[in-house]
Amino acid sequence: MNQIVSARRMARELGEWRTHRAAYLALADRIRVMLIDGRLASGTRLPAERELSTALQISRTTVAAAYAQLRDDGYLRSIRGSGSTLVLPDGKRGGPGGPQELALDFTKAAAAAYPGLPAAYQFAVEQLPAYLGHHGFDMQGLPELRAAVAEHYGRRGLPTSADQILITLGAQHALSLLTHTIYSPSERILVEHPTYPHAIDTFLGAGARLLAMPVSSADGWDIAEGQMLIRRAAPSMAFLMPDFQNPTGASMSAEDRERLARLAQREGTVLIADETTAMLDIDRGELPPMAAFSGTVVTIGSLGKLAWGGMRIGWIRGSRDLLARVQRARPAFDLGTPMLEQLASIALLRDADLMVANRSRDLRSGRDFLVAEIQANFPQWQLHVPDGGMSLWINTGDVSSSALALAARSEGLALVPGPRFGLEGAFERFLRIPFTYRQDELAAGVQALLRASRSVGSAPARMPLQAVI
Ligand SMILES: Cc1ncc(COP(=O)(O)O)c(C=O)c1O
Repeated sequence: MNQIVSARRMARELGEWRTHRAAYLALADRIRVMLIDGRLASGTRLPAERELSTALQISRTTVAAAYAQLRDDGYLRSIRGSGSTLVLPDGKRGGPGGPQELALDFTKAAAAAYPGLPAAYQFAVEQLPAYLGHHGFDMQGLPELRAAVAEHYGRRGLPTSADQILITLGAQHALSLLTHTIYSPSERILVEHPTYPHAIDTFLGAGARLLAMPVSSADGWDIAEGQMLIRRAAPSMAFLMPDFQNPTGASMSAEDRERLARLAQREGTVLIADETTAMLDIDRGELPPMAAFSGTVVTIGSLGKLAWGGMRIGWIRGSRDLLARVQRARPAFDLGTPMLEQLASIALLRDADLMVANRSRDLRSGRDFLVAEIQANFPQWQLHVPDGGMSLWINTGDVSSSALALAARSEGLALVPGPRFGLEGAFERFLRIPFTYRQDELAAGVQALLRASRSVGSAPARMPLQAVI
């Protein structure tokens, strides 16, 4: 069944959609970029022209012209009597055949594989025969891998036993499983704002109402706001990335970790600490994991950023009770984690210090190179140099990042605009640029961005954000 987006919701999500272009073109552009970057799904039915024009307080002719433009460009299909449905023409999507068709795809904050990966798979192939007598459906994870992940936490000062670990198909899978297990419809979930887009997708897909706790690259988390939201709005879950938050790169202080972890425990909010980016330290040093401050914190982790996204190995660290519930729910999603990847992960985790050092070195040179490129080419943009993570979160001043992302596509560069990381169209003046690419690619990307920025005007003043949607 097609999704339907209401006119009010559409107006909120569109945010500051006006640009220097004629209003109907600016509106068509914004809807198109939201479709391309995933804020609107292909197959979504748009509101009737009259309803959207009322919600946006513009003439119906403008909306009709915008829809006509989208139809002409192949992004909208209208059938008399059943409304107008968004369609993504082949080759425009953010998957195979999508940004990869462009010369440069900067939509992923992820690096090429750790050089030790082939050796880890070699080890895995050698070990595999010992497991072939088993049926191979592994819903919990190999005991040896769970022990290796547990030891990894132990080395970070968080004593953990193997039965507190469940192996998943990456951190995104872990988050979906946890949401399915913990969350009940109509409850609230607290998220950082901005946050990781696929967490937003997961929570909204479950029907959640989201509470936004502001975080910025320069000032970190608005802890007082987070505390107030947990106390007053009683979210059932809170999703945080304390280390090198995606996309801001911010790190939460040990004191704030403790404050939030203890408060969440007292108030009955399940705090999920996403540590997918936790090992991407460039020049910060270690801080205690959030779970060190409360036994009720659930941690998710992954080898995706440290070793390779293509492995699809992640985990949940939580109470035995919770993991048993997750395991019972799991067959509706998948039937277990592949053996070869698990065996390779055991070898990789033995090498964890080397992997961290290797990533840190590459991230440092990528970060420093991209910072210098941005500062030289966009002196008016503001950025805070993060001490870890994989991307810069850049304030583009009065330039709309959705418009910039659309213009960049014409220059062969795929980017994710700021609002993909927020709620209700927020962060239109922010752009995330990963520094995980090669220096020649980063330099070419910045030049493409420069050309794109010349064709893009300023965005008008932003609208206020409501905390709950
Ligand atoms: C914060 C965060 N969580 C989860 C994920 C997904 O991780 P995985 O590839 O292990 O599913 C990502 C990947 O971009 C991420 O940045």
